[in-house]
Amino acid sequence: MNIVTEREAGSDAANPVGAPIPSTNVTTSSTEPAADQPSALLRAARQQPGDRVPVWFMRQAGRSLPEYFPVRGEGTILDAIQVPERATEITLQPVRRYGVDAAILFSDIVTPVWAVGFGIDITPGVGPECERPFRTVDDLSRLRPLDPDRDLGFQAETIRNLTAELSVPLIGFAGAPFTLAAYMVEGRPSKNHAKVKGLMAEQPELWHELCDRLADIAIATLRAQVEAGAAAVQLFDSWAGALHPDHYRRFVAPHSAKIMAALADLGVPRFHFGINTSELLDQFADVGADVVGVDWRTPLATARRRTGGRVALQGNLDPSLCLASWPVVEAEVRRILADNQGHPGHIFNLGHGVLPETDPDILAEVVKLVHAEGVANRPVDRSAAETPGPEPSVPGGEAGRR
Ligand code: CP3
Repeated sequence: MNIVTEREAGSDAANPVGAPIPSTNVTTSSTEPAADQPSALLRAARQQPGDRVPVWFMRQAGRSLPEYFPVRGEGTILDAIQVPERATEITLQPVRRYGVDAAILFSDIVTPVWAVGFGIDITPGVGPECERPFRTVDDLSRLRPLDPDRDLGFQAETIRNLTAELSVPLIGFAGAPFTLAAYMVEGRPSKNHAKVKGLMAEQPELWHELCDRLADIAIATLRAQVEAGAAAVQLFDSWAGALHPDHYRRFVAPHSAKIMAALADLGVPRFHFGINTSELLDQFADVGADVVGVDWRTPLATARRRTGGRVALQGNLDPSLCLASWPVVEAEVRRILADNQGHPGHIFNLGHGVLPETDPDILAEVVKLVHAEGVANRPVDRSAAETPGPEPSVPGGEAGRR
């Protein structure tokens, strides 16, 4: 299934994997892959057998780490992101501390929308907020196309700094149209997403135009990140699980599929993630992801059946349980590894981001345990996979029909 292109193989060699590790920056761990091996992360993303299960954590950087605060400085996170030295250091902190198998760029899903001047900010302790939410066709004028060189030059510089330092792949990312629109239409984080669902159902033309522009912004963002050195990309559709599967198919999947298709030629693995997506996992695979994130509500074996074995899976430790004592966390980690049944296409992660209250020592133990116990070399028995539903929901056609 996964396309392994020369570009991807090339990036293994040039970038990340076995480059010398600057002793002042990144801890050398006995689990480092040999220089000529593809990294554990990229290998698992392609469902290829290897000697261990790779692990990283969504939101591994930031408020759970004491070393984050002195570097972050005053102002909002959007201020910190714009200073490449700060964003570089904050990205490296969890890699150094935990010995995880990937770094994730320190940025936010709203950065590109903010950079084109839509009028969005991140309020500490609250999340993304817009003074003038997106409600009518006139609001489209605030959403011009992204010019990555001009608008996100600081991000490319951060990525170049990082790829020079890192011994593991760097994951770039962007927000998917639904999740970004959820903030832009609601104006702030929302529990029930009533306004964004209302706009979608009542003004479908405006909805599709908004998503089309957000898809173009995500494509420009992700392509620029890969060109600067990111070795994988993750498209966050964190809140898509709020939708009925038919609404997801009609209103969201075509736009996410357009993004995934526009990245295909880059040859880097495309990760796709949302929470509460148990009923959407097949469609998350169908939009063109190589790796699908699974939250803690769905056992990995169920997720693998639902995705028909055609994608690697990422997950799925409950971040809330990471606040419990080690024996509880240890049992969960072992259960998840057992649930994966040695399948090579498993990237261990949390089912959502690290909670700020998390004790970093617990996450360090999780990494050690996954590296010690994870087995990633069971041959894939594809006959065990459920056949995907009778009507594959590969969008595109849908986009054309709207
Ligand atoms: O370590 C990493 O994972 C990389 C950094 C990262 C951030 N945001 C930094 C950040 C990533 C990958 C994101 C993605 C993101 N941002 C998502 C998708 C992932 C998810 O959690 O579902 C979403 C939905 C957002 C929107 C957003 N930004 C929220 C909900 C918040 C939290 C608000 C708060 O203060 O509680 C933010 C702010 C934010 N983004 C912080 C960080 C480290 C905290 C702000 C700070 O330190 O001031």
